[in-house]
Formats: sequence, C-alpha cells, structure tokens
Amino acid sequence: MKTGSDDAPTGPAVVRPLRADDLAGAERLTAAAYAGVDATTTPRMLPVPAARPPERAAGWVARADHLLRTDPEGCWAAEVDGELAGVALSFTRELTWFLASYAVAPALHGRGIGTQLLAAALTHGRGCLRGMLNASSDPAAARRYRLAGFDLHPMMTLRGVVDRTRIPDLGRVRDGSLGDRDLMDSVDRRARGSAHGPDHEILAAQHRLLVSDDGRGSGYVYVDAAGSPAVVAATSRRTAATLLWAGLAMSPPGAEVAVHHVTAANQWALDVGLTAGLAVHAQGYQALRHLRPPAPYLPHGSLL
Ligand SMILES: CC(C)(COP(=O)(O)OP(=O)(O)OC[C@H]1O[C@@H](n2cnc3c(N)ncnc32)[C@H](O)[C@@H]1OP(=O)(O)O)[C@@H](O)C(=O)NCCC(=O)NCCS
Repeated sequence: MKTGSDDAPTGPAVVRPLRADDLAGAERLTAAAYAGVDATTTPRMLPVPAARPPERAAGWVARADHLLRTDPEGCWAAEVDGELAGVALSFTRELTWFLASYAVAPALHGRGIGTQLLAAALTHGRGCLRGMLNASSDPAAARRYRLAGFDLHPMMTLRGVVDRTRIPDLGRVRDGSLGDRDLMDSVDRRARGSAHGPDHEILAAQHRLLVSDDGRGSGYVYVDAAGSPAVVAATSRRTAATLLWAGLAMSPPGAEVAVHHVTAANQWALDVGLTAGLAVHAQGYQALRHLRPPAPYLPHGSLL
C-alpha cells in the first residue's frame, strides 16, 4: 500500500470547489502524480516517459480552464494545511458524466483524499446514468473506480515510427473546421452516446482536424502537435481506419507517434497501427458505467 511521506502536511483535508487560481498548481500536481505512476508502472522494455514538459503545461491549463467554465460544479480541489493536495475535474455532456483529471499529491496518497475528491466529482454526475474515464495503470486509481461502480476495460497503446510506405489512399479526407461541429456531434452520439459539444472549440484550438464524409461513412480525427491522433470517431470501422491513417500520415517522417486508449472493441485500430509498423503495449483501463466500450472510437485523454 502507498502511504504519505513522513514530512508531508498532517492536517485534515478540506474538499472545496476548484478555482481559476488553483490551475497552475493543479497542473504541477497532476504532472507529478502521473509521472509517479509512469515511474512505477511502465513496462521495463519501454523508456519511462518524461513528466509533462513545460510546452504541454499551457495546454493542460487551457483545458482545465475550459472545464472550469463549462462545469464549475464538476471541478474540485482538496487542501491540506492551506496547500493544494489534490484535484478532480469532471464534466457532463448530454447524459454522460466524464472524469478528465484526478490526482492527489504523491506525498499524501493513501489518506482517503482521493476517495473524498471522487465522491465530490461524482455528485456532479448524479443525473447521468452513463460515465466514462480513462484510468491510468495506478492500482489505487483502478480500485477507486471499480468501487465507484465502473467496469474496467483494459486498453492498449501503439507506439513507433510510421512506415510511410504502408500509408494507403486516403480517399476524400479533408481539413475540418468548427463548421463541421454538427456532423462531429452526430458521429459522437452514435459512437460514444453523447456529443462533445463545447469541447470541439478547445479540441480544434489545440489540434489539427481532419474530416471524412462520404457515402461509406462519416467521421473525424484530431491530431496533436507531435503528429499523434488524439481522437478518432466514425460511423464505420472502415472510415475510422482511413482517418487513423490520415492522422498517422501527418506525423513528421522519423518521429515517434503514440496511439492511445485502444480497447478490445477497436481491433480496427490495432490493424492500422500494426500495418504502420507500430508496437502494441497494454496501458491503463477505460472505465465505463452503463456504456459499452465506444467503437469505432479512440477517446481523447481528458476530453474523452
Ligand atoms: C488515484 C489517486 C488519486 C487516489 O488518491 P488517494 O488519496 O491515494 O486515494 P485514497 O487514499 O482515498 O484511496 C486509495 C486506495 O487505494 C488503495 N491502494 C493504495 N495503493 C495500492 C496498491 N498499490 N494496490 C492496490 N490498492 C492500493 C488504498 O488502500 C486505498 O483503498 P481503500 O481506501 O479502499 O483501502 C492517487 O493515488 C493518485 O494521484 N494516483 C496517481 C495519479 C493517477 O493515476 N490518477 C488517476 C488518473 S485516471
């Protein structure tokens, strides 16, 4: 069992609504907590990922600020002795509750703070039967989610350098814009039961958007600055596969890409990744409540 360190603050935890002036501290706290999980759970054959680099910190804060605006009642902080001790950021879209980020300062693990924070965030989803989150490989997190009633579905990550000789004809994939929002919301409702709605604004601000919409199916992919696909949603596996290829084709030649959050329901993504020369590893869980694993669908890390 994990326990806090001897010099950690000792006072009682106070759980209160998250504020905008917490966000910089919350970014550092979550980066440290996730780096701790990576250090202990990354398979020995893989390099341990670096903690969230400064160039990605601003993106985390912008997404958290977006959620604080759309769902202030879903975002919670814990304080111990006046210092930020943990955060839980959740939001609802249509009738689904999502957990975007959840962490306790590593020195304070195992004192029940995470349990209190998750309970507060879950109250925001009281009216939602469905729930969805991407869990890390942290056994403590998996325990919390299962005890809160979520089904745990193991996920895979594909990593490597794209073999560009294998990129197929991408058909009529085109650049997308927020003008495609109704189309994307319709695809999301079919694939994951609820639209992203306002989240497309921040997703589009932080990623390149590609869209496919023809007689064979509709869908979209958001690609991050490093050339890794961040969300793939489509009405058919064939369209999803084409969009994943389109995303992978955006990666700079020779650059390592990662395709995260692949559940067993998305074998089409394994087929694309393995054909592209990527290697598959198990990583984390998709935690779902009253929801089948979305497909064909690869969720965003926090905006899901
Ligand atoms: C997940 C996290 C937020 C929980 O916070 P916390 O304050 O430590 O949580 P609690 O003390 O309320 O509960 C931890 C539970 O895990 C259990 N636990 C701790 N270490 C464990 C381990 N190695 N294996 C299994 N269970 C473990 C504890 O016994 C406790 O369960 P119990 O209260 O039912 O006995 C925290 O561990 C964390 O920040 N982890 C790293 C970041 C992360 O992975 N976040 C989740 C992202 S999806």
